[in-house]
Amino acid sequence: MMLASGLAARSQAGMHRLARYRTEFPIFRDKIYLNTCSLGALGERTRRKVAEFLDLWQSRGASAWYDVWWAALGELRARYGRVVGAAPETIALAPSISVALTAVAEALDYARRPKVVVTSLEFPTVVYQWLSKARRGVEVVTVESPDQVTVPVEAIARAVDERTALVATSHVYFTSGAIQDIRAVAEAAHARGALCLIDAYQSVGQVPVDVRAARVDFLVAGGLKWLLGGTGITFLYIREELARRLEPTTAGWFGHKQQFAFDPRRVEFHDDARRFELGTPALAAVYAQLGGLEYLDEIGVPAIRDVTAGLVEDLIARAGALGFRPKVAERPDDRSAIVMVPAPDPARAVRHLAEGGVIVDARPGHVRLSPFFYNVQDDHVTALERLATYLSH
Ligand SMILES: Cc1ncc(COP(=O)(O)O)c(C=O)c1O
Repeated sequence: MMLASGLAARSQAGMHRLARYRTEFPIFRDKIYLNTCSLGALGERTRRKVAEFLDLWQSRGASAWYDVWWAALGELRARYGRVVGAAPETIALAPSISVALTAVAEALDYARRPKVVVTSLEFPTVVYQWLSKARRGVEVVTVESPDQVTVPVEAIARAVDERTALVATSHVYFTSGAIQDIRAVAEAAHARGALCLIDAYQSVGQVPVDVRAARVDFLVAGGLKWLLGGTGITFLYIREELARRLEPTTAGWFGHKQQFAFDPRRVEFHDDARRFELGTPALAAVYAQLGGLEYLDEIGVPAIRDVTAGLVEDLIARAGALGFRPKVAERPDDRSAIVMVPAPDPARAVRHLAEGGVIVDARPGHVRLSPFFYNVQDDHVTALERLATYLSH
């Protein structure tokens, strides 16, 4: 393919120390992949781990539940916990962020505190969760972003009052890549007795997260993007003391303390975050995530952040040199590995680039590029040149 030979002919400019992992991600054999913030690339270790699950299913059937598969669920809770600095008991597995949010939203009491504060930059599923509770008296208060990149924490603090149950907001905004100071958000919420939930789907794996240092009450994240685990596996962190006292009102047998007593007459929830789990997890997804986490655990998120911070500055500089004005946070420290390049009809531009083997994504008014540790500067050169050429026609 033209793209592959073009790349081979050129030296791999800007190689960094994590670029050695690139050969483990076969998509790079014939594509430029700059779309981890939509879906992390499939690594060989992830594929092997899923094959391990299929082999067990084939050879042992249900008997694998009692030792290997049950243990895999415990291992995943512990490893998710480690990535965000939390104990395994504070982690509940869920099949999607939306489901994890539902578990929280249903458990809160809105009688005296009907308000939920969000910002105009959230991923919509976060907001839908509480908009859909208007009939139950929930009032969603949206704090506007003045620049469509960030939201001043002071504005969030002003929106919180004694009627606020929760502040629900992102760690990294999905359409600007800006990193929000979640500890400051948690303080703003707690100052008025409200709780704080962080949607960290766009941060965990690419920027360090420590739930205890940040003092957040809830945090949701998962496999799809920066944790390289694919679809269908996410988690909910709940602060330990809160996990014990918050009563679920969505329930399933995985949340039951004596799950295998099969007693249909009463439900007694786990004492920890597992009380928010519902039904049988998708094991193929669990295995894919365990495979993806092998990369994360081996490299470490701080080392990933070091590399992606450099790649992001390179991408922004190269885009600028071609006449683009990327929409990113003002201070480099507040930028993550999501770079928005303004473009008319971005969906069409993205389709055109994909036909030529360059995989990026579209969001309203922008082409979205997101480098990860397996990208190199040459990826930026090719993607931006293709985009500039396309747009000039
Ligand atoms: C920040 C963020 N939150 C939530 C979601 C949606 O999560 P789910 O489809 O698992 O409910 C996305 C989309 O991928 C996202 O980018």
